[in-house]
Amino acid sequence: MAVAKTILKMAGVTKEYKNEGKFQALKDASFEVKKGEFVAIVGPSGSGKSTLLHLLGCLDKPTRGEIYIDGEPVSEMGSDSLAEIRREKIGFVFQAFNLASTLDASKNVELPLIISGRDADERAVAVENLLALVGIAEKAHNMPNELSGGERQRVAVARALTNNPSIILADEPTGNLDSKSGKDVMELFSRLWGQGITIILITHEPQVAAYAGRVISLKDGRIESDVLQKPKKSEEKELKLKGF
Ligand SMILES: Nc1ncnc2c1ncn2[C@@H]1O[C@H](COP(=O)(O)OP(=O)(O)OP(=O)(O)O)[C@@H](O)[C@H]1O
Ligand SMILES: [Mg+2]
Repeated sequence: MAVAKTILKMAGVTKEYKNEGKFQALKDASFEVKKGEFVAIVGPSGSGKSTLLHLLGCLDKPTRGEIYIDGEPVSEMGSDSLAEIRREKIGFVFQAFNLASTLDASKNVELPLIISGRDADERAVAVENLLALVGIAEKAHNMPNELSGGERQRVAVARALTNNPSIILADEPTGNLDSKSGKDVMELFSRLWGQGITIILITHEPQVAAYAGRVISLKDGRIESDVLQKPKKSEEKELKLKGF
């Protein structure tokens, strides 16, 4: 079997926040993620999960240590290169969906394509395919407040996929969802994983972490354990995704 390439790597990463004193939110974290892995990050509130994900997503810089994306050390990149990496390689999904409330589902998905300068025909095809991929083609013209939480999160996943990223970083994507919608969204992540996308997903729900092939636990800013597991398989029939 071919050895998978390392797509993300943290080497001795510490993140300190400086308020009244220095607070170490992440302490000497080292691990690597191979292309095509699905990693769940778990741990109590305040243990450093979001801090770790923001660092991996180049939204913030480490105080010490180095982060590599596709073998390239992030600390040597300027803000333009970092923005380019974020745009080209990484799709973000957040707990609060972060959709633009005045734009319908299709426009929310189209926005990053406008920003990256794609022409109108190309955008229309991409938006249609992506909404079909996440199973909500028929809701293309609903505004966010006319969508259920699960549907909103699926729009957010479609938006994260617009630039065909190799990595999806998700911070509690099921945190605002009821268990049925949460399951639908996890089935979707599981299917995307099956397409070869690398996924790093924060959750505090064991039934969500069960979909991943590896679980990294944080406690007080330290990696406490890092284990492989047999992932829960998606129930393909339940989510009638077109386009796969
Ligand atoms: N900008 C900041 N300035 C100061 N301290 C911060 C900042 N951001 C986070 N922290 C602190 O760092 C620690 C880790 O925060 P982080 O957001 O990474 O936790 P988390 O594991 O994601 O928690 P939760 O499950 O509640 O989202 C917390 O104690 C938090 O208060
Ligand atoms: Mg968090």
